[in-house]
Amino acid sequence: MAAKAARRPPASETKPVLVLNGPNLNMLGKRQPEIYGRETLVDVEAACRTEAKRLGLGVEFLQSNHEGALVDRIQAAREQNSGIVINAGAYTHTSVALLDALNAAELPAVEVHLSNIYKREAFRHHSYISPAAVGVIAGLGSQGYLLALQALARLLAR
Ligand code: DQA
Repeated sequence: MAAKAARRPPASETKPVLVLNGPNLNMLGKRQPEIYGRETLVDVEAACRTEAKRLGLGVEFLQSNHEGALVDRIQAAREQNSGIVINAGAYTHTSVALLDALNAAELPAVEVHLSNIYKREAFRHHSYISPAAVGVIAGLGSQGYLLALQALARLLAR
């Protein structure tokens, strides 16, 4: 007997994707615009909403300057979300707790950085969270978030 094809849930049944931003990303637009650009986080969120809609995905956002708040939200994502786009800001380079939370969430996660962290100071070259990510996008500015949503849409449609 032919194996039954796995049923792909319609987009309306797929849980929303979580877009998480870590410390200082609330300062986008004002903060070192020569590195991070002039768009604000509100602009980035609006672009993500438009792209998510085009892709048939729901999307939820959290920005926090607090590591524990990010850990709490990743834990909740295990039940509430289908995938994660994460720009952990400076916690990228310091946080075993975020790595553990992402591993425990067991969701596809895409790590995003606005800047090309490999072109910058050596301490930015290492990411604690990359081992928990399906992919990493760095250096493409806010477009990185949209590419991450596209990647998740494809993964979740499988
Ligand atoms: C960043 C890069 C990090 O090194 C930095 O600490 C940030 C932003 C980026 O988006 O390029 O806060 O994650």
